[in-house]
Amino acid sequence: MTEPREDSHSGNTGLRDILETDLEIFFEQQQDPQANYMAAFTAENPADENAFTIKWAKILGDENIVKRTILYDGRVAGHIVKFEQFGEPEISYWIGKAYWGRGVATRALALFLEVVQERPLYARVAKDNIASTRVLQKNGFTIIGEGKGYANARGEEIEEYIVKLE
Ligand SMILES: CC(C)(COP(=O)(O)OP(=O)(O)OC[C@H]1O[C@@H](n2cnc3c(N)ncnc32)[C@H](O)[C@@H]1OP(=O)(O)O)[C@@H](O)C(=O)NCCC(=O)NCCS
Repeated sequence: MTEPREDSHSGNTGLRDILETDLEIFFEQQQDPQANYMAAFTAENPADENAFTIKWAKILGDENIVKRTILYDGRVAGHIVKFEQFGEPEISYWIGKAYWGRGVATRALALFLEVVQERPLYARVAKDNIASTRVLQKNGFTIIGEGKGYANARGEEIEEYIVKLE
């Protein structure tokens, strides 16, 4: 894996290493019902702070997981991670609702794809998460398959797209 570069910035969106103090903002961003519905494959109980703390301690302690805080105008707008799932490198991201619709996710993913140069890369997205599907497609990911999985935020099994960046 390529070593992460120095903090990268372009326009108002940038990435930096995650600070412990960012976590309370991520937790707050994780509470939004609309965001949970979109993301679908979420924490069983987004309000469970203990589960959140355990999950993030694992992420921060795992050097194989590449993770960054997304900044917008210097403020913590969200996070983006690359981890292994089913033996393949997969990406995931979450933007706080206050920052939606400004191209933050699109730009953050573009910056992250410079940090993580491993290919192919995969992502899984609920079929009805049109915004995230757009973000991925604008960054070169293409739909290569479909799947089904239990979505905690929906309380049922839903369909998803599997997307890949060659
Ligand atoms: C999905 C998410 C990351 C998008 O973040 P964002 O910063 O608002 O995204 P951007 O502004 O970069 O781009 C969103 C794109 O989707 C489009 N879009 C947004 N809502 C849409 C909708 N309901 N229908 C169609 N297109 C939509 C936007 O127009 C834009 O595309 P465009 O540039 O072609 O116009 C953000 O809403 C989020 O974090 N949601 C909760 C967590 C989540 O879903 N994570 C992804 C899991 S796979």
